[in-house]
Amino acid sequence: MKRAAIIVLALAAAFASAATKRSVAFDPNLPVLGTKFHSLPAGTGKQQVEASCFPCHSADMLVQQRLTEKQWTAEVDKMIRWGAVMKESDKPAAVAYLVKNFGPANKFTPVRTRPAGY
Ligand code: HEC
Repeated sequence: MKRAAIIVLALAAAFASAATKRSVAFDPNLPVLGTKFHSLPAGTGKQQVEASCFPCHSADMLVQQRLTEKQWTAEVDKMIRWGAVMKESDKPAAVAYLVKNFGPANKFTPVRTRPAGY
């Protein structure tokens, strides 16, 4: 009986240490994933984009893109299907703004981050 209890305790300890062991190391000086780094540049259409897109994600999701007008149009339509609220009449200004600032020529350098908890 006593031996069984010891085996159970040993197994529990082994599982606990396996669960907390982290095989991937991250530089603790890196910012945590999810940190907001960017805001949107000024320009016509910025207001429409902020009002429609910021309820769900930050500017960081947008500034890293390099999409053509066709791709931005499809992206905005997809976001509307996913729940973004944007008047049909606001769409041209929003898409033009996104293409102008985050089109194929967009120069964006990703920021290295680490997951929360590392
Ligand atoms: C109802 C919530 C919601 C709104 C509002 C919203 N999005 Fe998204 N968006 C999402 C989700 C969910 C994802 C996927 C998240 C992920 O991959 O981490 C996403 C991802 C994206 C991506 C990454 C590429 C992709 O398709 O996964 C882009 C670009 C994007 N959204 C642009 C926009 C723009 C532009 C707007 C405003 C017109 C907007 N979003 C509004 C929910 C939303």
